[in-house]
Amino acid sequence: MYDVYKIREDFPIFRELINGKPVTYMDTAASAQKPHQVLDKMAMVYNSIYANPHRGTYYFADAITQEYENARETVRGFINARHINEIVFTRNATESINLVAASWGRANLQSGDEVLISEAEHHANLVPWQEICRSTGAKLRVFAITDDGDYNAEAFNDMLSEKTKLVAVTAMSNVLGTIFPIKEITAAAHRAGAKVLVDACQFAVHHQIDVQDIDCDFLAFSGHKTYGPTGIGVLYGRAEILNTMPPYQFGGDMIDTVTYTETTYAEIPARFEAGTPASVQAIGLAEALRYMTKLSMRDVTAHEKELVSYATNRLHEVPRLKIIGTAPNKGGVFSFDIKGLHPQDLAFVLNKENVAVRVGHHCAEPLVNRMGYTSLARASLGLYSTREDIDALVNALLKAEKFFRED
Ligand code: ALA
Repeated sequence: MYDVYKIREDFPIFRELINGKPVTYMDTAASAQKPHQVLDKMAMVYNSIYANPHRGTYYFADAITQEYENARETVRGFINARHINEIVFTRNATESINLVAASWGRANLQSGDEVLISEAEHHANLVPWQEICRSTGAKLRVFAITDDGDYNAEAFNDMLSEKTKLVAVTAMSNVLGTIFPIKEITAAAHRAGAKVLVDACQFAVHHQIDVQDIDCDFLAFSGHKTYGPTGIGVLYGRAEILNTMPPYQFGGDMIDTVTYTETTYAEIPARFEAGTPASVQAIGLAEALRYMTKLSMRDVTAHEKELVSYATNRLHEVPRLKIIGTAPNKGGVFSFDIKGLHPQDLAFVLNKENVAVRVGHHCAEPLVNRMGYTSLARASLGLYSTREDIDALVNALLKAEKFFRED
């Protein structure tokens, strides 16, 4: 039985009072709050076994190396990768995508090739491809979504061709909440001979991932969005592809042997983890993934699904409010506009009511523009969100709408 009120007790930040009142946190899409299990685990590592992993033979070094590599195994299990060497720890999903662009992209793209992305991509899954296409002569193509923010199979299939070398697509939009049919996209891309990278930043927060079932070649997500710490991200890569890729950064721990004139490189995944790794963060991330798994991802998804329909109904009570992104298959992300009310003004009032939302272009400026706006307010849900959070949001919106209407 999914007891959200009990789950909330695991999150110390929800005990904080601002101006004597609790905060309604509706910005999980930007970053999730952390359960004490994650914070306790990280404190345990710093307090009891901290050292630099992979570099020492004493007790602490061994203990943290084991925890770090166990974390890799936990991530492997979380996304059902075949082997732990397919899990590369990075700084965040942005770095994961940059790694693929700089390493695989530079080695495999040339003039005449195409990289295909959707209109719904976050800057992290757009700008690295712009840059690598600029430097290799490949062409970046962008397939349209529908006006309600849904996946558009016709537009995708029209642009997919034998020139497409990579399809890089989000599994769930951070602005629209749309869930993309990544398995279907991957199968079509593979038929055309293209590789597939999935940006699972938002999807990983709400849904079970199975990279073998999706059959994608690369997948990226961030620790801080999946209830883990900042400074840690994951790149999954199919082993046979990672094995062909040159290193992305150079230095300690990614080498095999080094002389003053020549260096040979380590096997994957170490080849892609130059320098002292964010070991404590990786261990914290593993604890966060265990936390989610223990709750059961199926129950997390079901809880949020129920809230999505509750929030959709309640938001419609706010006069002049339009939800941007109304695809039938949509997760807990609500971008909206209230006609005549600037999102910054709205956020100001919501903050006074202790309701935390994000406003702006949400690191997806072309998408927000394509939907007809320059800035949107966005409320997003997490596994700890409640109907009361949505009520608090709607009450604050009603207050703001009334205030500015009467002004
Ligand atoms: N990508 C994060 C967001 O959507 C930061 O807010």
